[in-house]
Amino acid sequence: MKTKVIRMNPQELDMEGIREAGEILRQGGLVAFPTETVYGLGGNGLDPQASAKIYRAKGRPSDNPLIIHIADMEDLEKIVKEVPESAKKLASVYWPGPLTMIFQKSDIVPYETTGGMDTVAVRMPDHPLAQALIRAGGGYVAAPSANTSGRPSPTMASHVEEDLDGKIDMILDGGPVGIGLESTIVDFTEEIPTILRPGHITKNMIAKVIGTVQMDAGLSGLDQSVKPKAPGMKYRHYAPKASMTVIQGKKEAVIRRIEELAAEYPKEKVGILAADETLSCYTHGQVVSAGSRNEHTIEQGLYRALREFDHMGVSVIFSESFADDDRSEAIMNRLLKAAGQKIEYLSDK
Ligand code: TXA
Ligand code: MG
Repeated sequence: MKTKVIRMNPQELDMEGIREAGEILRQGGLVAFPTETVYGLGGNGLDPQASAKIYRAKGRPSDNPLIIHIADMEDLEKIVKEVPESAKKLASVYWPGPLTMIFQKSDIVPYETTGGMDTVAVRMPDHPLAQALIRAGGGYVAAPSANTSGRPSPTMASHVEEDLDGKIDMILDGGPVGIGLESTIVDFTEEIPTILRPGHITKNMIAKVIGTVQMDAGLSGLDQSVKPKAPGMKYRHYAPKASMTVIQGKKEAVIRRIEELAAEYPKEKVGILAADETLSCYTHGQVVSAGSRNEHTIEQGLYRALREFDHMGVSVIFSESFADDDRSEAIMNRLLKAAGQKIEYLSDK
């Protein structure tokens, strides 16, 4: 299959291109498109065969459910059984935006889309290109991140091409995304609303709107006997090809320890994941910056940095920790998953 790429400025939509992409979705085909979080791989969420195609293109296990993307609030009621008041409140503040909510599904949502579950994840993205495509494609676009299963999520169209060229009908290239990590997922089918995946919208931000909210016990990854509730969170995910270890502690101690560890490998085989502020502190290894701590761009650059290490062909990576403040939860969740939870804590001395 030849994958057609259409480039377009999100502020100045090419409606002819959108119409063509929407038609592909209506015919059961697949279109990758930008959202504010990461690029998604879209198919008609109400068409079981389109969902099957998505799993095949990504090489994704078919028990891992997809998120249905909508563009208009009225469209929600058709695919869910009921929407609790607290969820309506949260939607009024954070939709459109990087928030996914889980509800009981209605009968028109096929089990192929929900990975066999009776619940459905729904998100309304805040990106003009995504919204236009959803409307042109019939209103219900199932879209996982547009990467090969297990690889870091794509934050620009070239990442999508790297993974899916020749496997899907079209890529809409709207430039690099704004946020860089996948949406926060909140499950409203639980007694207490539960965060199944941390994201740009933090637990505190949600608590301010709806009061009580809890973190899924399976999220920390430390206790292997507690399984995460979002099926996708149990897979080794977001992973670079090399084995990675995160080093956490005071800045100077971390740099010293990473220098010491890196020295044991040939320079071209060892990757170091740093920030703009510490990039020049290392003397041995392939040093890549995820972004700036001061300017809060780590979130945006993390996946791009992990893909860079794949291109360099390093066999081992040592990463600084980015557990800097309240907003780091999502970053550390993805970083530790990429590292297979390997972390070394340095004492304060
Ligand atoms: O930001 C995002 O959410 C991006 C963009 C494209 O919108 N999408 C995304 O989709 O990250 P995906 O498929 O890569 O991740 C969806 C996650 C998976 O971990 C999946 O297991 C979980 O959501 N999920 C989906 N439906 C669920 C359900 N009914 N119950 C529990 N978890 C669910
Ligand atoms: Mg994904």
